[in-house]
Amino acid sequence: MLMRARPGSNADEAAGLQALIDRTMHRFIERFGHKPQWGAAAPGRVNLIGDHTDYNQGFALPLAIDRYTVVVASPARPAITTLIAADLNEETRVDLRQALLPQPGSFGAYVLGVVQQYIARGAAVPNLNLMIAGDLPRGAGLASSASLEVAVATMLAQIAEMPLSPHEKALLCQRAEHEFARVPCGIMDMYVVSLARSGHAMLIDCRVNEHEHVPLPPRQEASLLVIDSGIHRSLAAGAYQALRRSCESASAKLGVDSLREAAIEHVEAAALATEEQASARHVIAENSRVLNAAEALRVNDLPALGQAMFASHESLRDRLHVSVPELNIVVEAARRVGQPGGVWGARMTGAGFGGCAIVLGRPDAMDDIRAEISAAFERRFSRQPLMFTTTAVSGAQLLASVEPDPSGVLPF
Ligand code: GLA
Repeated sequence: MLMRARPGSNADEAAGLQALIDRTMHRFIERFGHKPQWGAAAPGRVNLIGDHTDYNQGFALPLAIDRYTVVVASPARPAITTLIAADLNEETRVDLRQALLPQPGSFGAYVLGVVQQYIARGAAVPNLNLMIAGDLPRGAGLASSASLEVAVATMLAQIAEMPLSPHEKALLCQRAEHEFARVPCGIMDMYVVSLARSGHAMLIDCRVNEHEHVPLPPRQEASLLVIDSGIHRSLAAGAYQALRRSCESASAKLGVDSLREAAIEHVEAAALATEEQASARHVIAENSRVLNAAEALRVNDLPALGQAMFASHESLRDRLHVSVPELNIVVEAARRVGQPGGVWGARMTGAGFGGCAIVLGRPDAMDDIRAEISAAFERRFSRQPLMFTTTAVSGAQLLASVEPDPSGVLPF
């Protein structure tokens, strides 16, 4: 062990992250022949409720999950930055002293986009040897891009000696994603990946970028199951952008700054196109579902939280049309199990167009719930979805060197 994670609240989580850090270190040493000097890790996220609300200045209730991206680096000699994504077997070489150009569609976009933001703020970023690895399914709607960006931003703050608050880091990463990956995402993913608290969901008010940590029930009382539909689509593809545009044109016609300000009576009476009507109705109802869900969590009313989750799924499916049959099958299977079988709620999570669903249920019922979902999925699609239970962890962290190695420290 050459670098270690912050001691976690749970031994299994900490062991999982440490194994990933060790793997990343080994790949780094194998490739570059010396030890890395810096490292950081950032989690992925699931959203309990509140999708397609963040870019409408609304509310969301995500949590950071115990699946991570780890980045480690050292100064490079010769003066070329080499970025390696260990799990993708991809490599990018670039000189950070030259102007950096957007690279939509490549993993390098997320790293260089963040580097570019630091440089734009006057930071001196040396050329680097940099290795990335993760155990977060990529492109599965679990914020793998935000996780990579925030991990890189956390490490660069140390390298460039430019400490940023977790808030500033989240905003910097959002800009990086807009400008370098050309994805017009909202703030939710970077925000929770950066600021989450272990054992808590995070109620984010995306109008003012403020949050409240809302405690989740202890793990012996409730489990969260993540089901990956196996359908992976990039947000850079047009559907997310089209939806965002329809929300913007709806607010323009309603004469409000964002759909957060729109009232339902106003929407019903307005001459909006069909998609604009649907987007506005979704956002207004989803915002109030998020607030109800947060209140349900505060008073540990899991049936009420579950009802809000089911209703959210229906709205995303029927109004926004961002769900896919794979996710609907999962949610229907969970609904069939219902409260008597240990399910409180289920929904697709994140942007949709594929990606993951989540089920909130009783821990002792998880085996039966998985079996029901597996069987339903198998019947319809002749394959099994990837499933795992997850817990709420803290946001990004720097990795501490446990064996300071002066020989691994090269002059810039
Ligand atoms: C993606 C975006 C987020 C958010 C969700 C939908 O994850 O990155 O900003 O818009 O979709 O809620």
